[in-house]
Amino acid sequence: MCGIIGFCGEEEAVPVLLEGLEKLEYRGYDSAGVAVISGDGVIRIRKRKGRIASLREKIEAEEPLPGTVGIGHTRWATHGEPNDVNAHPQAGMSGRIVVVHNGIIENYREIRQFLERRGYKFLSETDTEVVAQLMEYYYLGKGDLMDAVYSMLDRIKGSYALGILCSDYPGQLIAARKDAPLLIGYGEDGNYIASDVTALLSHTRTVSYLEDEEVAVITKDQVTVYDAGRLVVDKELHTVEWDVSAAEKGGYSHFMIKEIMEQPEAVRKTLSPRLRDGRIFFEELGEDPAFIRNCSSIYIIGCGSAYHVGVVGKYMLEKHLRIPAEACLASEFRYSDPIVGPDTLVIVISQSGETLDSMAALREAKRRGARTLAIVNVIGSSIAREADYVIYTWAGPEIAVATTKAYSTQLLLISMLTVYFKDQLGKITPEEYDEYVDELLALPDKLDQVLARVGNIQKTASKYFNLDSMFFIGRNLDYALGLEGSLKLKEISYIHSESYAAGELKHGTISLMEPGVLVVAIATCESVLDKTFSNMVEATSRGADAVVLTTEEHAGNFEKTVKAVLSVPSTHDLLQANLNIVPLQLFAYYVALNRGCDIDKPRNLAKSVTVE
Ligand code: G6P
Repeated sequence: MCGIIGFCGEEEAVPVLLEGLEKLEYRGYDSAGVAVISGDGVIRIRKRKGRIASLREKIEAEEPLPGTVGIGHTRWATHGEPNDVNAHPQAGMSGRIVVVHNGIIENYREIRQFLERRGYKFLSETDTEVVAQLMEYYYLGKGDLMDAVYSMLDRIKGSYALGILCSDYPGQLIAARKDAPLLIGYGEDGNYIASDVTALLSHTRTVSYLEDEEVAVITKDQVTVYDAGRLVVDKELHTVEWDVSAAEKGGYSHFMIKEIMEQPEAVRKTLSPRLRDGRIFFEELGEDPAFIRNCSSIYIIGCGSAYHVGVVGKYMLEKHLRIPAEACLASEFRYSDPIVGPDTLVIVISQSGETLDSMAALREAKRRGARTLAIVNVIGSSIAREADYVIYTWAGPEIAVATTKAYSTQLLLISMLTVYFKDQLGKITPEEYDEYVDELLALPDKLDQVLARVGNIQKTASKYFNLDSMFFIGRNLDYALGLEGSLKLKEISYIHSESYAAGELKHGTISLMEPGVLVVAIATCESVLDKTFSNMVEATSRGADAVVLTTEEHAGNFEKTVKAVLSVPSTHDLLQANLNIVPLQLFAYYVALNRGCDIDKPRNLAKSVTVE
């Protein structure tokens, strides 16, 4: 979702801003813009609907934007359609205050009316213009910039990450945040603000994370951060380990395929630090057995693919721990008055660690006294910082909007946690434990074997890419996986796709089975394999085509019945999903490729969803 970059340094700001915006493109956006302040205090703005490339063209075609201080923004429209006027930066009426903003100002209508009554004219439909105008109103009234910042922040309700320029202060930019990510980068050639670290990697690895209600004043050689009471805060500096190449395509045509191919490595990096001498360790949990022994129920919360990991987790944790476990969409959990208390474990899963609904669900769980555990990829993100415990997936930066390697590492951690907790509850035999660890160690190599079968998947994708409708069916963990397979397909190929528990097909959906429909049957869970097979046959009997995803030992049986079988090696039940997901990701990728879709940046989608 929207991205912010800001720079205050020695060199011209425009190239730095544009490069930063390009790095933020993956978050999802539909317009972009920059504002640069020159030494004599003139703020020039350029903004445009569409891609950064077209903003770049506009900048090159028009009068230059001189200056070494500036802010830039990629906008994912919420208030007002994506067009040039609604794009950020937004300015106050006199042009003195210019703002970029992520988040939503909930009371913007009321403030807009307040200002309109005082003669303010608005050009856009955005809530952000209200911020710029309101700040200008206070600045003109009070004559003090920081007073104006704090008065404006006091008045607005909602979430925000803000980058602010003022024409009377050409050497500085101001940043503020509440419930939307913003970090500060400390470079040798100047200082930066950004929504996420990928925009800064080529300039600096030293960052600090702005906390809610903090305000930063940034010049080329100084960063001063104030809290809500205007006291100076001593910020802790962090060094980012991710390297630049991890956030570049490295010869692949898309980030998505690169990230799919990186999964054996990502899985290896996630499991190895937690595996020693054949034992699983989660030092992050304080090695406290009471953690799980006192637990009477488990909620696993997330959005999108992270929620789908939650569904897998529900099956795994409940079956092995014999503790009731529920997967819950973050957006539903927070408003559902859930039965959560001190003996509930709430696991929040999030790649970005910034998804607003997941963050709000986490806060709700904490408010009700639950123990909270976050599984997060982005280090230092809001969810990681607010949960009682955090376990990081070491997937590295994930750029494609459609998650793949982060999903895989989340799956892995849920599986490892299941075994870890099962052991702490004394419910696993040494033999079972060893068997699991053996398969865990073999997982990266088995993932390589699955990836080597890409040719077969490509062939299957080129056969079916023209269809309008697909259904993913399976039972138990295969059903949970189908949810993700279906989401991957629809988000990047725009083919209508749904996922069903195979047994549910007969209760309505079977009426949609006819020639031209594809059913992807996932049949790897031994105990329900035959039943899924029967459900698939019910669909093919009505004219639908079927592709089956199964383990090598069962592939032969299916080959007799269906035209395409995607096979994977067998592994431990608790790790099978990690192998199964790969063909489904590749299938979605090649279907989308055949259809000529913008795979890394699917329409309307955002990588990190920071609004409700
Ligand atoms: C967006 C992304 C999905 C992701 C979901 C949750 O919808 O496009 O890929 O699964 O947000 O994001 P999170 O960062 O919390 O995992």
